[in-house]
Amino acid sequence: MTTIPVGPPSGPSFYEQVGGHDTFRRLVDAFYRGVAADPVLKPMYPEEDLGPAAERLTLFLEQYWGGPGTYSAERGHPRLRMRHMPFRVNPDARDRWLTHMRAAVDELGLPPLQEETLWSYLERAAFAMVNTFEE
Ligand code: HEM
Repeated sequence: MTTIPVGPPSGPSFYEQVGGHDTFRRLVDAFYRGVAADPVLKPMYPEEDLGPAAERLTLFLEQYWGGPGTYSAERGHPRLRMRHMPFRVNPDARDRWLTHMRAAVDELGLPPLQEETLWSYLERAAFAMVNTFEE
């Protein structure tokens, strides 16, 4: 009898392949170092302390890539476009966001395939988050 594999692919998730929590923590920490120094992005954050926002982004990305589902347990359905509506995400804000994220991804030093997988998602997501073309 041969066994025919059915169901979703098994094996380590992308979250595990890239190094799990430690990797996402490093990514988001590096990203928020860029945000903290950005004159357009920093004032958009409602809290002076960027720590809680960093925690939310870390949990979201971990969940997205197959890690623990803590983000939704704490925050519910992501609905990211909706959650960004209070903020003015124009192309300038998007490009700044992507500049800091690109630097953060580079710091991880991932193998090329994983880096490309992560980056292409982040780029697509950032373009999708734009909610105004006003300056
Ligand atoms: C394109 C430019 C973007 C800008 C200017 C921006 C800005 C912001 C701001 C100001 C907040 C509120 C901070 C907080 O209190 O959490 C926020 C929250 C958040 N952002 Fe973004 N963001 C952008 C793109 C993205 C992208 C591409 C993602 C996902 C890949 C993302 C994921 C999140 C998450 C998960 C939260 C917390 C949502 C919650 O649970 O309340 N953002 N963002």
